[in-house]
Amino acid sequence: MTSQNISPATLAAQALGRVDEKTRAVAPPLHLSSTFVRDEDNQYRSGRNYARADNPAFDQPEALLAALENGEEALLFASGMAAATAVFQALQPGDHVVAPKVMYWSLRNWIAGFTKTWGLAVDFAEMSDLDAVRRAVRPNRTKLVWTETPGNPMWNITDIAAVAEIAHGADAKLAVDSTVATPVLTRPIQLGADIVMHSATKYLNGHSDIVAGALVTRAKDEFWKRIEQNRVQLGGILGSFEAWLLLRGMRTLFPRVRTACVNAQAISEALAVHPHVRAVLYPGLPDFSGHDVAARQMQGGFGGMLSVRVHGGEPAAIATAANVRIWKRATSLGGVESLIEHRASVEGPDTPCPPDLLRLSAGIEDGSDLIADLRQALDAAHR
Ligand SMILES: Cc1ncc(COP(=O)(O)O)c(C=O)c1O
Repeated sequence: MTSQNISPATLAAQALGRVDEKTRAVAPPLHLSSTFVRDEDNQYRSGRNYARADNPAFDQPEALLAALENGEEALLFASGMAAATAVFQALQPGDHVVAPKVMYWSLRNWIAGFTKTWGLAVDFAEMSDLDAVRRAVRPNRTKLVWTETPGNPMWNITDIAAVAEIAHGADAKLAVDSTVATPVLTRPIQLGADIVMHSATKYLNGHSDIVAGALVTRAKDEFWKRIEQNRVQLGGILGSFEAWLLLRGMRTLFPRVRTACVNAQAISEALAVHPHVRAVLYPGLPDFSGHDVAARQMQGGFGGMLSVRVHGGEPAAIATAANVRIWKRATSLGGVESLIEHRASVEGPDTPCPPDLLRLSAGIEDGSDLIADLRQALDAAHR
Protein backbone atom coordinates (compact mmCIF):
# COMPACT_ATOMS: atom_id res chain seq x y z
CA MET A 1 0.00 0.00 0.00
CA THR A 2 1.47 3.38 -0.94
CA SER A 3 0.35 6.45 0.95
CA GLN A 4 -0.83 8.25 -2.21
CA ASN A 5 -4.61 8.65 -2.48
CA ILE A 6 -5.30 6.50 0.57
CA SER A 7 -6.84 8.27 3.51
CA PRO A 8 -4.76 8.67 6.68
CA ALA A 9 -7.37 6.72 8.68
CA THR A 10 -6.84 3.70 6.42
CA LEU A 11 -3.05 4.05 6.55
CA ALA A 12 -3.20 4.09 10.34
CA ALA A 13 -5.62 1.17 10.76
CA GLN A 14 -3.47 -1.03 8.54
CA ALA A 15 -0.13 0.39 9.74
CA LEU A 16 0.63 1.17 6.06
CA GLY A 17 -0.67 -2.25 5.02
CA ARG A 18 2.69 -3.90 5.51
CA VAL A 19 2.81 -7.68 5.81
CA ASP A 20 5.87 -9.51 7.17
CA GLU A 21 7.60 -11.01 4.12
CA LYS A 22 8.77 -14.21 5.80
CA THR A 23 5.68 -15.22 7.77
CA ARG A 24 2.86 -13.20 6.09
CA ALA A 25 1.98 -11.89 9.55
CA VAL A 26 -0.18 -8.74 9.62
CA ALA A 27 1.33 -7.66 12.93
CA PRO A 28 5.05 -6.94 12.59
CA PRO A 29 7.68 -9.07 14.30
CA LEU A 30 9.27 -7.59 17.41
CA HIS A 31 12.98 -6.95 16.80
CA LEU A 32 14.92 -6.84 20.05
CA SER A 33 18.47 -7.32 18.82
CA SER A 34 20.92 -4.58 19.78
CA THR A 35 23.47 -5.62 17.15
CA PHE A 36 23.64 -7.02 13.61
CA VAL A 37 26.08 -9.44 11.98
CA ARG A 38 28.52 -8.35 9.28
CA ASP A 39 28.66 -10.05 5.90
CA GLU A 40 31.58 -12.38 5.16
CA ASP A 41 33.35 -9.68 3.19
CA ASN A 42 33.17 -7.25 6.14
CA GLN A 43 30.20 -5.29 4.74
CA TYR A 44 26.84 -4.47 6.34
CA ARG A 45 24.51 -5.07 3.40
CA SER A 46 21.50 -5.19 5.74
CA GLY A 47 22.15 -1.49 6.30
CA ARG A 48 22.21 -2.08 10.05
CA ASN A 49 25.05 -2.43 12.48
CA TYR A 50 23.85 -1.28 15.91
CA ALA A 51 20.38 -0.56 17.28
CA ARG A 52 21.13 2.91 18.64
CA ALA A 53 21.76 4.00 15.05
CA ASP A 54 19.28 1.96 13.01
CA ASN A 55 16.75 -0.09 14.90
CA PRO A 56 14.38 -2.08 12.63
CA ALA A 57 11.68 -1.72 15.31
CA PHE A 58 11.44 1.96 14.38
CA ASP A 59 10.94 1.50 10.63
CA GLN A 60 7.20 0.94 10.48
CA PRO A 61 6.03 3.36 13.20
CA GLU A 62 8.32 6.09 11.82
CA ALA A 63 7.10 5.50 8.26
CA LEU A 64 3.47 5.55 9.39
CA LEU A 65 3.87 8.76 11.37
CA ALA A 66 5.69 10.46 8.48
CA ALA A 67 2.81 9.45 6.17
CA LEU A 68 0.15 10.68 8.62
CA GLU A 69 1.90 14.03 9.03
CA ASN A 70 2.77 14.36 5.34
CA GLY A 71 6.46 14.69 6.21
CA GLU A 72 9.56 13.32 4.57
CA GLU A 73 10.83 11.44 7.62
CA ALA A 74 10.01 10.77 11.27
CA LEU A 75 12.24 9.88 14.21
CA LEU A 76 11.17 8.19 17.43
CA PHE A 77 12.65 9.26 20.76
CA ALA A 78 12.63 7.98 24.33
CA SER A 79 9.99 10.56 25.35
CA GLY A 80 8.28 13.71 24.16
CA MET A 81 10.86 15.70 26.12
CA ALA A 82 13.71 13.83 24.38
CA ALA A 83 12.14 14.69 21.01
CA ALA A 84 11.57 18.37 21.84
CA THR A 85 14.98 18.91 23.41
CA ALA A 86 16.66 17.31 20.36
CA VAL A 87 15.30 20.20 18.25
CA PHE A 88 16.75 22.85 20.57
CA GLN A 89 20.07 20.98 20.77
CA ALA A 90 20.38 21.27 16.99
CA LEU A 91 20.61 25.07 17.35
CA GLN A 92 23.97 26.86 17.51
CA PRO A 93 25.11 29.18 20.30
CA GLY A 94 24.07 32.75 19.40
CA ASP A 95 20.81 31.67 17.73
CA HIS A 96 17.54 33.23 18.84
CA VAL A 97 14.34 31.29 19.50
CA VAL A 98 10.74 32.29 20.10
CA ALA A 99 8.54 30.06 22.25
CA PRO A 100 5.02 30.38 23.71
CA LYS A 101 4.39 32.15 27.01
CA VAL A 102 1.99 29.37 28.00
CA MET A 103 2.91 25.86 26.92
CA TYR A 104 3.74 22.43 28.35
CA TRP A 105 5.28 23.59 31.60
CA SER A 106 8.26 21.24 31.94
CA LEU A 107 9.45 22.06 28.44
CA ARG A 108 9.05 25.79 29.02
CA ASN A 109 11.17 25.53 32.20
CA TRP A 110 13.80 23.50 30.38
CA ILE A 111 13.95 26.02 27.51
CA ALA A 112 14.40 28.91 29.97
CA GLY A 113 17.42 27.17 31.56
CA PHE A 114 18.91 25.54 28.47
CA THR A 115 18.95 28.69 26.38
CA LYS A 116 21.20 30.27 29.04
CA THR A 117 23.66 27.37 29.24
CA TRP A 118 23.72 26.81 25.44
CA GLY A 119 24.22 30.53 24.65
CA LEU A 120 20.87 31.00 22.93
CA ALA A 121 18.59 34.03 23.18
CA VAL A 122 14.89 33.37 23.82
CA ASP A 123 11.70 35.40 23.79
CA PHE A 124 8.44 33.98 25.12
CA ALA A 125 5.48 35.39 23.17
CA GLU A 126 1.72 34.91 23.15
CA MET A 127 1.54 32.83 19.97
CA SER A 128 -2.16 33.48 19.36
CA ASP A 129 -1.27 37.19 18.94
CA LEU A 130 0.38 37.51 15.52
CA ASP A 131 1.65 41.03 16.24
CA ALA A 132 3.36 39.74 19.38
CA VAL A 133 5.02 37.00 17.29
CA ARG A 134 6.14 39.58 14.69
CA ARG A 135 7.64 41.72 17.45
CA ALA A 136 9.46 38.76 18.99
CA VAL A 137 11.05 37.45 15.78
CA ARG A 138 14.46 38.90 14.89
CA PRO A 139 15.31 38.77 11.15
CA ASN A 140 18.45 36.69 10.43
CA ARG A 141 18.91 35.95 14.13
CA THR A 142 15.82 33.89 14.97
CA LYS A 143 16.41 30.33 13.85
CA LEU A 144 13.46 28.59 15.50
CA VAL A 145 9.89 29.49 16.37
CA TRP A 146 8.36 26.87 18.64
CA THR A 147 4.66 26.60 19.28
CA GLU A 148 2.14 24.22 20.79
CA THR A 149 -1.46 24.18 19.58
CA PRO A 150 -3.85 23.70 21.29
CA GLY A 151 -1.43 24.79 24.05
CA ASN A 152 -1.39 23.48 27.62
CA PRO A 153 -3.34 24.11 29.79
CA MET A 154 -5.53 26.96 28.46
CA TRP A 155 -5.68 25.49 24.92
CA ASN A 156 -4.55 28.70 23.22
CA ILE A 157 -4.67 28.27 19.46
CA THR A 158 -1.76 29.24 17.20
CA ASP A 159 -2.59 30.07 13.59
CA ILE A 160 0.06 27.75 12.15
CA ALA A 161 -0.06 29.09 8.58
CA ALA A 162 0.27 32.70 9.73
CA VAL A 163 3.10 31.98 12.18
CA ALA A 164 4.91 29.87 9.54
CA GLU A 165 4.85 32.89 7.23
CA ILE A 166 6.30 35.14 9.95
CA ALA A 167 8.99 32.58 10.84
CA HIS A 168 9.97 31.98 7.23
CA GLY A 169 10.07 35.73 6.57
CA ALA A 170 12.87 35.88 9.14
CA ASP A 171 14.55 32.73 7.77
CA ALA A 172 13.57 30.74 10.85
CA LYS A 173 12.01 27.29 11.12
CA LEU A 174 8.63 26.66 12.69
CA ALA A 175 8.29 23.63 14.96
CA VAL A 176 4.84 22.66 16.27
CA ASP A 177 4.10 20.51 19.31
CA SER A 178 1.01 18.81 17.89
CA THR A 179 0.58 16.33 20.75
CA VAL A 180 -2.95 17.49 21.53
CA ALA A 181 -4.16 18.02 17.95
CA THR A 182 -2.71 14.76 16.54
CA PRO A 183 -2.54 14.23 12.75
CA VAL A 184 -6.22 13.28 12.90
CA LEU A 185 -7.21 16.91 13.46
CA THR A 186 -4.28 19.01 12.21
CA ARG A 187 -1.39 18.44 9.81
CA PRO A 188 1.03 21.28 10.60
CA ILE A 189 3.42 20.52 7.71
CA GLN A 190 0.61 21.09 5.22
CA LEU A 191 0.03 24.44 6.90
CA GLY A 192 3.68 25.47 6.53
CA ALA A 193 5.44 24.07 9.62
CA ASP A 194 8.91 22.58 9.20
CA ILE A 195 8.95 20.17 12.13
CA VAL A 196 6.13 18.47 14.05
CA MET A 197 6.70 17.12 17.53
CA HIS A 198 4.62 14.63 19.51
CA SER A 199 4.66 13.31 22.99
CA ALA A 200 3.77 9.87 21.61
CA THR A 201 3.05 8.93 25.22
CA LYS A 202 -0.33 10.58 24.65
CA TYR A 203 -2.76 10.11 21.74
CA LEU A 204 -0.41 8.38 19.30
CA ASN A 205 -0.03 5.44 21.66
CA GLY A 206 -3.28 6.11 23.48
CA HIS A 207 -3.20 3.50 26.24
CA SER A 208 -1.13 5.16 28.99
CA ASP A 209 1.37 2.30 28.89
CA ILE A 210 4.51 3.73 27.29
CA VAL A 211 6.54 6.95 27.36
CA ALA A 212 7.65 7.96 23.86
CA GLY A 213 8.31 10.92 21.61
CA ALA A 214 8.53 11.68 17.92
CA LEU A 215 9.59 14.33 15.43
CA VAL A 216 8.53 14.61 11.80
CA THR A 217 10.26 16.83 9.25
CA ARG A 218 9.05 18.52 6.11
CA ALA A 219 12.50 18.01 4.53
CA LYS A 220 15.68 16.13 5.34
CA ASP A 221 17.81 19.29 5.44
CA GLU A 222 20.97 20.13 7.39
CA PHE A 223 19.02 21.03 10.54
CA TRP A 224 17.23 17.68 10.47
CA LYS A 225 20.52 15.84 9.90
CA ARG A 226 21.88 17.43 13.07
CA ILE A 227 18.78 16.23 14.98
CA GLU A 228 19.22 12.75 13.54
CA GLN A 229 22.90 12.69 14.47
CA ASN A 230 22.06 13.89 17.98
CA ARG A 231 19.66 11.00 18.43
CA VAL A 232 22.37 8.51 17.45
CA GLN A 233 25.08 10.16 19.53
CA LEU A 234 23.14 11.32 22.59
CA GLY A 235 21.24 8.04 22.48
CA GLY A 236 17.75 9.20 23.46
CA ILE A 237 16.15 6.34 21.54
CA LEU A 238 12.93 4.49 22.19
CA GLY A 239 13.03 0.85 23.30
CA SER A 240 12.07 -1.76 20.70
CA PHE A 241 9.06 -3.05 22.60
CA GLU A 242 7.78 0.49 23.16
CA ALA A 243 8.09 1.12 19.40
CA TRP A 244 6.08 -2.04 18.74
CA LEU A 245 3.39 -0.97 21.23
CA LEU A 246 3.33 2.50 19.70
CA LEU A 247 2.58 1.08 16.26
CA ARG A 248 -0.20 -1.02 17.73
CA GLY A 249 -1.63 2.07 19.43
CA MET A 250 -1.45 4.17 16.26
CA ARG A 251 -3.66 1.68 14.43
CA THR A 252 -6.63 2.89 16.50
CA LEU A 253 -5.61 6.56 16.56
CA PHE A 254 -8.46 7.82 14.40
CA PRO A 255 -11.45 6.22 16.20
CA ARG A 256 -9.92 7.03 19.59
CA VAL A 257 -9.33 10.69 18.80
CA ARG A 258 -12.74 11.09 17.14
CA THR A 259 -14.52 9.62 20.17
CA ALA A 260 -12.48 11.78 22.57
CA CYS A 261 -13.46 14.88 20.52
CA VAL A 262 -17.17 14.00 20.71
CA ASN A 263 -16.89 13.46 24.47
CA ALA A 264 -14.87 16.65 25.07
CA GLN A 265 -17.36 18.73 23.08
CA ALA A 266 -20.34 17.29 25.00
CA ILE A 267 -18.58 17.72 28.37
CA SER A 268 -17.65 21.34 27.53
CA GLU A 269 -21.21 22.20 26.56
CA ALA A 270 -22.66 20.52 29.68
CA LEU A 271 -20.20 22.17 32.09
CA ALA A 272 -20.42 25.62 30.47
CA VAL A 273 -23.92 25.96 31.96
CA HIS A 274 -23.15 24.28 35.30
CA PRO A 275 -23.72 26.65 38.28
CA HIS A 276 -20.41 25.71 39.98
CA VAL A 277 -18.34 26.37 36.85
CA ARG A 278 -16.82 29.81 36.19
CA ALA A 279 -15.52 29.05 32.70
CA VAL A 280 -14.84 26.19 30.35
CA LEU A 281 -11.78 26.51 28.12
CA TYR A 282 -12.29 24.41 24.99
CA PRO A 283 -11.56 25.37 21.36
CA GLY A 284 -14.87 23.81 20.29
CA LEU A 285 -16.96 26.35 22.20
CA PRO A 286 -18.02 29.26 19.93
CA ASP A 287 -17.11 31.89 22.55
CA PHE A 288 -13.57 30.50 23.08
CA SER A 289 -11.03 33.11 21.93
CA GLY A 290 -9.26 30.82 19.44
CA HIS A 291 -12.41 29.15 18.14
CA ASP A 292 -12.42 30.70 14.65
CA VAL A 293 -8.79 29.78 13.93
CA ALA A 294 -9.34 26.31 15.41
CA ALA A 295 -12.43 25.81 13.23
CA ARG A 296 -10.31 26.58 10.17
CA GLN A 297 -7.23 24.65 11.22
CA MET A 298 -8.61 21.58 12.99
CA GLN A 299 -10.56 19.10 10.91
CA GLY A 300 -13.22 16.85 12.37
CA GLY A 301 -13.14 18.03 15.98
CA PHE A 302 -11.44 20.28 18.50
CA GLY A 303 -9.50 17.70 20.48
CA GLY A 304 -10.03 15.73 23.64
CA MET A 305 -8.52 18.30 26.03
CA LEU A 306 -10.41 20.95 27.97
CA SER A 307 -9.99 22.90 31.17
CA VAL A 308 -12.61 23.90 33.70
CA ARG A 309 -12.31 26.85 36.07
CA VAL A 310 -14.57 26.31 39.06
CA HIS A 311 -16.21 28.71 41.47
CA GLY A 312 -14.63 28.58 44.93
CA GLY A 313 -10.97 28.77 43.82
CA GLU A 314 -8.25 26.24 44.44
CA PRO A 315 -9.91 24.39 47.36
CA ALA A 316 -13.05 23.77 45.29
CA ALA A 317 -10.99 22.67 42.27
CA ILE A 318 -8.99 20.19 44.34
CA ALA A 319 -12.15 18.93 46.07
CA THR A 320 -13.81 18.38 42.68
CA ALA A 321 -10.86 16.28 41.49
CA ALA A 322 -10.99 14.36 44.78
CA ASN A 323 -14.67 13.49 44.33
CA VAL A 324 -14.67 11.90 40.87
CA ARG A 325 -15.54 8.21 40.72
CA ILE A 326 -15.08 7.34 37.04
CA TRP A 327 -12.47 9.88 35.95
CA LYS A 328 -8.95 9.02 37.10
CA ARG A 329 -7.19 11.69 39.12
CA ALA A 330 -3.84 11.64 37.35
CA THR A 331 -1.55 13.74 35.16
CA SER A 332 -0.92 13.06 31.44
CA LEU A 333 -3.46 12.94 28.63
CA GLY A 334 -4.54 11.22 25.46
CA GLY A 335 -5.29 7.74 26.85
CA VAL A 336 -8.49 5.76 26.43
CA GLU A 337 -9.39 6.52 30.06
CA SER A 338 -10.46 10.00 31.13
CA LEU A 339 -8.06 11.90 33.41
CA ILE A 340 -8.58 14.94 35.62
CA GLU A 341 -5.96 16.96 37.45
CA HIS A 342 -5.56 20.18 39.38
CA ARG A 343 -2.99 21.57 37.00
CA ALA A 344 -1.38 24.25 39.20
CA SER A 345 -0.43 21.54 41.72
CA VAL A 346 1.61 19.86 38.98
CA GLU A 347 3.24 23.00 37.63
CA GLY A 348 4.39 24.52 40.91
CA PRO A 349 4.56 28.02 42.38
CA ASP A 350 5.71 29.99 39.27
CA THR A 351 2.95 28.69 37.03
CA PRO A 352 0.77 31.04 34.98
CA CYS A 353 -1.99 28.41 35.35
CA PRO A 354 -4.95 29.78 37.37
CA PRO A 355 -5.37 28.03 40.75
CA ASP A 356 -9.04 27.23 40.10
CA LEU A 357 -8.27 25.26 36.90
CA LEU A 358 -8.86 21.56 36.37
CA ARG A 359 -7.32 20.00 33.27
CA LEU A 360 -9.43 17.25 31.73
CA SER A 361 -8.40 14.64 29.18
CA ALA A 362 -11.57 13.11 27.77
CA GLY A 363 -11.20 9.42 27.03
CA ILE A 364 -13.37 7.11 24.98
CA GLU A 365 -15.81 6.00 27.66
CA ASP A 366 -19.55 6.66 27.37
CA GLY A 367 -19.84 10.46 27.38
CA SER A 368 -22.93 10.55 29.59
CA ASP A 369 -21.08 8.61 32.34
CA LEU A 370 -18.28 11.15 32.20
CA ILE A 371 -20.66 14.13 32.42
CA ALA A 372 -22.69 12.60 35.27
CA ASP A 373 -19.49 11.91 37.23
CA LEU A 374 -18.25 15.49 36.83
CA ARG A 375 -21.63 16.91 37.86
CA GLN A 376 -21.72 14.85 41.05
CA ALA A 377 -18.07 15.73 41.83
CA LEU A 378 -18.77 19.45 41.38
CA ASP A 379 -21.84 19.19 43.57
CA ALA A 380 -19.98 17.24 46.26
CA ALA A 381 -17.14 19.80 46.26
CA HIS A 382 -19.56 22.70 46.75
CA ARG A 383 -21.71 21.13 49.47
C1 LIG B 1 1.96 18.96 24.97
C2 LIG B 1 3.07 18.13 25.55
N1 LIG B 1 4.28 18.18 24.98
C3 LIG B 1 5.31 17.46 25.46
C4 LIG B 1 5.17 16.65 26.58
C5 LIG B 1 6.34 15.85 27.08
O1 LIG B 1 6.18 14.52 26.71
P1 LIG B 1 6.75 13.26 27.54
O2 LIG B 1 6.07 13.25 28.87
O3 LIG B 1 6.42 12.10 26.66
O4 LIG B 1 8.22 13.48 27.67
C6 LIG B 1 3.93 16.55 27.19
C7 LIG B 1 3.75 15.69 28.38
O5 LIG B 1 2.86 15.84 29.17
C8 LIG B 1 2.85 17.32 26.67
O6 LIG B 1 1.62 17.29 27.24
